[in-house]
Amino acid sequence: MRLVIHEDYEKVSRWTAAYIAERINTHKGKPFVLGLPTGSSPLGTYKELIQLHKAGKLSFANVITFNMDEYAGLPADHEQSYHRFMWDNLFSHIDIDKKNVHILNGMAKDLKAECAAYEEAISAAGGIDLFLGGAGADGHLAFNEPGSSLVSRTRVKTLTHDTRIANARFFGGDPVKVPGTALTVGVGTVMSAREVVIIVTGHTKARALRDAVEGGVNHMCTLSCIQMHQHAIIVCDETATDELKVGTVRYFKGIEGPGCS
Ligand code: GLP
Repeated sequence: MRLVIHEDYEKVSRWTAAYIAERINTHKGKPFVLGLPTGSSPLGTYKELIQLHKAGKLSFANVITFNMDEYAGLPADHEQSYHRFMWDNLFSHIDIDKKNVHILNGMAKDLKAECAAYEEAISAAGGIDLFLGGAGADGHLAFNEPGSSLVSRTRVKTLTHDTRIANARFFGGDPVKVPGTALTVGVGTVMSAREVVIIVTGHTKARALRDAVEGGVNHMCTLSCIQMHQHAIIVCDETATDELKVGTVRYFKGIEGPGCS
């Protein structure tokens, strides 16, 4: 696993967008399959990707996307749905073909069937080339809350009280208004991607980063599963390293060289 440490969120965003753009631009043949998250972590990266597209340096015409998760019970046009988030913050500003966008439908009559069909669609697309992700303060990946199976696939998950409190800021500050369940890709779904890139920034993620990098693989911090991935990168800012050992930070900075802060 690589740990790429940058000075701040802006540099993390620029680096991550450039990395994804390079992967898309050098991909040959069939469409590039990109897994995507929502949340504040990828927002800067999405802005950078949009700029690269507007500057004529990146096209999404040959890209298929699969989002990580969606709240159960929120219609696509709800202002806090992840459908809405993705169209507002990325898809409306780039040249992606609508039929190449996949986001779980939280309003499906049969949520179990929806999740199974999602896994099938990922397989039919040839699997995910690069899964971009963020992490919760407790180290959750997508909505794979602490205690999730590390080999889980796409399914319905009950959200923890902590996650509902963390996301209450988008629902008028009231955790009760945050949907109690969500559809999410599994830890195993992310692990099946050929490459995984996770953005971890800010002090509130410092413990999650420590547990994921220095702790053992543990279902209480589902992000820690990426220790078992052959091609995984965590991109973080200095603040997120607050709980890491000095030696750990020195080691990874030494590997990555002067490009990192
Ligand atoms: C939610 C999402 C995760 C996301 C996390 C952190 O729980 N399901 O995919 O990584 O929030 O969000 P943020 O990036 O806003 O800190």
